[in-house]
Amino acid sequence: MYKIGVFDSGVGGLTVLKEIEKYLPKSHIIYFGDSANAPYGDKSKNEIKNLCLKIGEFLYNNSVDAIVIACNTATAASLEAMQETFPIPIIGVIEPGVKSALATTTNGKVAVIATPATVKFNAYRDVFDNFAPENFDLVQRGCKLLCPMVEEGWENKYSIYFTDEIIRLYLEAIPEDVDTLILGCTHYPMIRNTIERQFTKNIVDPAKETTLELLNKLKTIDKKNDITPKIEFAISGDIENFKTIAERFLEREIQNLYNIKL
Ligand code: DGL
Repeated sequence: MYKIGVFDSGVGGLTVLKEIEKYLPKSHIIYFGDSANAPYGDKSKNEIKNLCLKIGEFLYNNSVDAIVIACNTATAASLEAMQETFPIPIIGVIEPGVKSALATTTNGKVAVIATPATVKFNAYRDVFDNFAPENFDLVQRGCKLLCPMVEEGWENKYSIYFTDEIIRLYLEAIPEDVDTLILGCTHYPMIRNTIERQFTKNIVDPAKETTLELLNKLKTIDKKNDITPKIEFAISGDIENFKTIAERFLEREIQNLYNIKL
């Protein structure tokens, strides 16, 4: 089996980890949650890239076979640099998200909600323009407050009064004719129920498509025979906060958490 590195600025990448676990239950996964530096969405491209390269170094030195950048902001800022630096498959979430949206939309009108940084770096726009037919449209909407809310563990706690209203305000600017909404931040599937109450057409979560891309890349790598299946969580910030949100989302107790400074 394989040893796989997965990382995010915090808990969001767990939405991708959950999919990876389904397809590769016998793997050893190292999940890096950089919660000491979350949110990434307000940082500069260079700052994010440097953080990602440090995380990449940690994972690579731990002999992972592949790295999944389970964060759109990190993918937008560092995918190329990561691929140039580490000689193993590096998989981002943006291309899988765009491909999945293109397979879903029936009228070619797609929107993506993401962090302000992902929108500013135009990563979805670039990939969309690469893969979409000419008459297709993409609208991008930066949502500054959503990721920090999920990191606080408020994802469902104050819904109806709080989360619903904030999401409603963000989605207000999405044109009526958009039929497909990409959750362009891996934290957002954690508030998917709330988003679904405000956007009732197609919602795309890139997690599954990203996992399929990982499986595809792993085909070129020899399986290891000495892997003991497990998941470890290397967390740069508050472990207890991470554990609480992770257990609520994964619906089970988690072990093997430890603190690591970047
Ligand atoms: N999960 C990250 C993403 O997909 C959130 C980034 C942040 O920390 O702001 O973009």
